[in-house]
Amino acid sequence: MSAFGAGKVILLGEHSVVYGHPALAGPLSQGVTARAVPAKSCQLSLPATLSRPQRAQLTAAFARAAEVTGAPPVKVSLEADLPLAVGLGSSAALSVACARLLLQAAGAEPSHKDAVRVAWAMEQEFHGAPSGLDHTTSAMEQLVLYRRKPGAAKGTGQVVDSPRPLHVVVTLAGERSPTKKTVGALRERQARWPSRYERLFTEIGRVSTEGAKAVAAGDLEALGDAMNVNQGLLAALGLSSPPLEEMVYRLRELGALGAKLTGAGGDGGAVIGLFLEPKPVVTKLRRMGVRCFSSQLAGPRAS
Ligand code: MEV
Repeated sequence: MSAFGAGKVILLGEHSVVYGHPALAGPLSQGVTARAVPAKSCQLSLPATLSRPQRAQLTAAFARAAEVTGAPPVKVSLEADLPLAVGLGSSAALSVACARLLLQAAGAEPSHKDAVRVAWAMEQEFHGAPSGLDHTTSAMEQLVLYRRKPGAAKGTGQVVDSPRPLHVVVTLAGERSPTKKTVGALRERQARWPSRYERLFTEIGRVSTEGAKAVAAGDLEALGDAMNVNQGLLAALGLSSPPLEEMVYRLRELGALGAKLTGAGGDGGAVIGLFLEPKPVVTKLRRMGVRCFSSQLAGPRAS
């Protein structure tokens, strides 16, 4: 028995989504696969390379999912074809894969709503109080405009259909800071100067809504512009850094319609570029020694 959870990229609206503003995100074809075999107790087999705190966190998250689903005793192993802990939603992908698998093991045909519910319980172990954007995108496996309801712990994703193929090139730059750290540091600045930061969050929310409308209208140039503006606003929030900026400019020089950091930002992490023809860009970047891959997030697929 096996189940898959997709990684994700945020096209528009990370961080401001935590404060109740809309964000646009799409699923990657890369993700995490969970496999189960019958066992004496419900357990997760973990790679020896993980640190003690990582093991404790994963074990606690898995125990929570086993409890919520009422799964029978199974031993679960994980396999990822997604770079881990770089802002591409690997913990959400793992949570969705485990949620689907344990629900299946418990005899249910998991709907994406069920997967979201169980993955949410796991994500709280990983991130404390996440917006819910990552695992909702992973479970829905579609481009979504997500918004957390004001005052609510979690929100809902509205599917955005794209009449055109939406390709991103995903690159990795610098040394990534943990999401908890960047979210926490921003929370401190926001608490100190709330109205200044709220203005920036509100503008990012507007840009995200405009970007979603641009996607639905097939206007990828307008989406690219929204991504560039969002990058400027993320820098204003103090979430960018020299390695991320350098990669953003490199992608724009290679013809990106738009380029920005994706995920938590900080000292490093993932940077995305929107391209009509991603393959030659990946080849050029790899020749330059950049770790990268491309993924189609939405729209008609070439047959
Ligand atoms: C992390 O992938 C996205 C953030 O907006 C945090 C969250 O949404 O919980 C930085």
